[in-house]
Amino acid sequence: MIIAIDGPAAAGKGTLARRLAEKFDYAYLDTGALYRAVGLSLLNAGKSPTDEAAAIAASCDLDPSLFSDPALRAEATGSAASQIASIPAVRSNLLKYQVNFSNSPPENKAGAVLDGRDIGTVVCPNADRKLFITASAEERARRRTAEIEARGDAANFAAILTDVKARDARDMNRKDSPLKPAEDALLLDTTILDIDAVFLRAVEFVKAAMP
Ligand code: DC
Repeated sequence: MIIAIDGPAAAGKGTLARRLAEKFDYAYLDTGALYRAVGLSLLNAGKSPTDEAAAIAASCDLDPSLFSDPALRAEATGSAASQIASIPAVRSNLLKYQVNFSNSPPENKAGAVLDGRDIGTVVCPNADRKLFITASAEERARRRTAEIEARGDAANFAAILTDVKARDARDMNRKDSPLKPAEDALLLDTTILDIDAVFLRAVEFVKAAMP
């Protein structure tokens, strides 16, 4: 069973994906973390996220320690990830790992849940279930602001909203694998539905695809 979850930044897809993986005992892959790791390795090396050659080199040889670095979750890393994500050679390097994960989930799990931007359209076009999770830009910026403040850091809502909108525009308008719902995806808007309601809808949707 392959479950593909796509949507814009901070729509709640990571929380949903993790909860579904736990409920059904499937493997979970946060594909955004792969793009973030490439972005972070450039930032750590003092390189620009627009440096294509450096981004391609980083995507061939990702340092595993980047995945446990708290800076992976920083806004600057998300923004760098969104920039390097428009480079086709970076995408094709990261694609192999994602396809392999979905076809052969670790620990012999009976299924895999992947979340990202192009899972239902490019990475797993034959996924058993596809979900597209969205929310208004204002609601997503409000959540990001609350998350940052909960960590004890200062957050500026207006700057975060500008960043969310810039990231949406980049992710939706790039030529290679843009963010868009797959034709057969179930669309859920978390501006209206809370995460528990979204989870219940998703569980029913997944169960209906089980043999
Ligand atoms: O989900 P996230 O915020 O961690 O993703 C960071 C960036 O990585 C996102 O803005 C675009 C890119 N990304 C992508 O292009 N394709 C994916 N499947 C996942 C993420």
